[in-house]
Amino acid sequence: MRIIAIINQKGGVGKTTTSVNLAHALARSNYHVTLLDLDPQGHLSTSLAMDNRDENFNMATGIGSVLLENEAINKVSYKVRDNLHLIPAGDHLNDVEHIQQGGATRGRLLKQALQQGEFDDQDFVLIDCPPASGLLAVNALFASDEILVPVVGDYLALCGVSQLMQTLKSFESMTRRKIAPWFTLTRFHPRGRLARDVLKKLTGYFPGRVLATAIRETVALAESPAQGKTIFEYSPHSHGAEDYTMLAEDLIHGRVW
Ligand SMILES: Nc1ncnc2c1ncn2[C@@H]1O[C@H](COP(=O)(O)OP(=O)(O)OP(=O)(O)O)[C@@H](O)[C@H]1O
Ligand SMILES: [Mg+2]
Repeated sequence: MRIIAIINQKGGVGKTTTSVNLAHALARSNYHVTLLDLDPQGHLSTSLAMDNRDENFNMATGIGSVLLENEAINKVSYKVRDNLHLIPAGDHLNDVEHIQQGGATRGRLLKQALQQGEFDDQDFVLIDCPPASGLLAVNALFASDEILVPVVGDYLALCGVSQLMQTLKSFESMTRRKIAPWFTLTRFHPRGRLARDVLKKLTGYFPGRVLATAIRETVALAESPAQGKTIFEYSPHSHGAEDYTMLAEDLIHGRVW
């Protein structure tokens, strides 16, 4: 099983869009995937129209209840598509950022919950992280072996990436374990000079770590969450569907720039 956090403290870079569509791309290739919403904004449930799909679904419970109230993680895992399960955020997830007691164990709550759950039959757990570097992000890092960092094609985005890599480095030296980073360009304009420059810089800084497929700017990717559909349901022949299918293969085969 591969546990991958989709993480970048910068907001609006395509973390949630990548989580939903990469997860569905993998599920469509017959991998068993669990999507975990670690963002109190709860966008994964909306993007997948969770509230219309499962009558047992209770918006209030989710990973928040697991981390704060010791709810069993498998009890808040819902089947949302073939081969695809969702663990929603739940109402109180943001309270995790304010946990005072527990010292260093506060950062390991998610790891423990995943270890106690039954995920042996899953090939991938993808964690959609909030745009922040607080305790939720630390929990995501402790729980993951790999991270996937979506990057948009502008220079400020690269500043954000170097901040994130510093955080990752100090985390790794503190915990004495390595986390493999992957990068993917999102909202990419293939003909734009800026985006191409950013791609060049990124592959220069992180050789062998930038996944081969850049996700193009695609209107359908922005429209599909409002319909509660993934790109494969909303616009299966769009660039977005093509790109996320390829990105899933990149991740499986380690295909990079
Ligand atoms: N490739 C794309 N083409 C067009 N629009 C996109 C693309 N990727 C993301 N978007 C749009 O950009 C906005 C931000 O994307 P998204 O919500 O996935 O980012 P995020 O990193 O999860 O944001 P947050 O940090 O708030 O959680 C959304 O409106 C989304 O629909
Ligand atoms: Mg998001």
